[in-house]
Amino acid sequence: MIISSSNDYRAAAESRLPPFLFHYIDGGAYAEYTLKRNVEDLSKIALRQRVLNDMSQLDLSTEIFGEKLSMPLALSPVGLTGMYARRGEVQAAVAADKKNIPFTLSTVSVCPIEEVVPAIQRPMWFQLYVLRDRGFMRNALERAKAAGCTTLVFTVDMPVPGARYRDAHSGMSGPNAAMRRYLQAFAHPHWALNVGLLGRPHDLGNISKYLGKPTGLEDYIGWLGSNFDPSISWKDLEWIREFWDGPMVIKGILDPEDAKDAVRFGADGIVVSNHGGRQLDGVMSSARALPPIADAVKGDIKILADSGIRNGLDVVRMIALGADLCMIGRAFVYALGAAGQAGVSNLLDLFDKEMRVAMTLTGAKRITDITPDCLVRYEQAVQNAME
Ligand code: GLV
Repeated sequence: MIISSSNDYRAAAESRLPPFLFHYIDGGAYAEYTLKRNVEDLSKIALRQRVLNDMSQLDLSTEIFGEKLSMPLALSPVGLTGMYARRGEVQAAVAADKKNIPFTLSTVSVCPIEEVVPAIQRPMWFQLYVLRDRGFMRNALERAKAAGCTTLVFTVDMPVPGARYRDAHSGMSGPNAAMRRYLQAFAHPHWALNVGLLGRPHDLGNISKYLGKPTGLEDYIGWLGSNFDPSISWKDLEWIREFWDGPMVIKGILDPEDAKDAVRFGADGIVVSNHGGRQLDGVMSSARALPPIADAVKGDIKILADSGIRNGLDVVRMIALGADLCMIGRAFVYALGAAGQAGVSNLLDLFDKEMRVAMTLTGAKRITDITPDCLVRYEQAVQNAME
């Protein structure tokens, strides 16, 4: 299969992976309107072409939370990444590390913190949910700190999990799910051998370490539902601050008022995100949410953005709309599922090349040159994206 974009990785992942895993990453909540909007709204934002400015010296590097990055991109936390390739979190983290960008480990990863950190040079970022078991949260924060993780990405848009219709159909959940997954694995022998057999143990590594016994994946969706805590409020964030003195980023902000609260709370960053369209279907895309949030808090707090970013042109668009850094989830998991660490490395190189073309032809020599001026009639472009 010829690979020249993240879309090609998506197609390759679809043929390589058992359907329950492909649809878990590819799908969104309910009728998936927000999932589609994320991608479509970004693609509608018109870049403003400029020429003849000697663009031979481009600099994609940036800095965030005292860390130097080769480009304004980080890998988003994705649960179960270790099911997409053998010990998948390690493979993805190494690819990000080689590219000099951060990897964020999910609370619900297969590989535990202690397995991923020694494989990389850069400090790892760690993502945490509010779980009912505060003992687990405290333990996870202490372990992340002891392992040298720098930035905490705290996810706040999942007090309850959104219904993912595809999961019930694909065998991720629903009737006879375990049996359907076994049958799918037999039909995908490459995955069955490399990941299903040789990629064990398959459990929620961070949680098993805390409980001292394996946490099976049989009822992953049920586990999320029963362990997430709908009582989450700003008070919980204050509690977390007691155990975390590093940079804290609040992930799942879509409204300028919540962004202002995050500044008042003293957070170091926010991620403008609708969880990749996996939570409340019907909310607006990140690309639409970002400009008013940037108007409200740009400069007071670092603005990260995800949901819908599939290539380097999208990164330039998000930065022009007000982001300081972009994060990708699905795009890297497709590449990981299709071709492991080499796939993720190649995907990051594609993003790099795509960003260079977009910067060259919008006249932006440095990341700080990527401003609303790089978009065609900024207000109009955003307006168009809303239609
Ligand atoms: C977990 O965060 C998910 O979106 O499945």
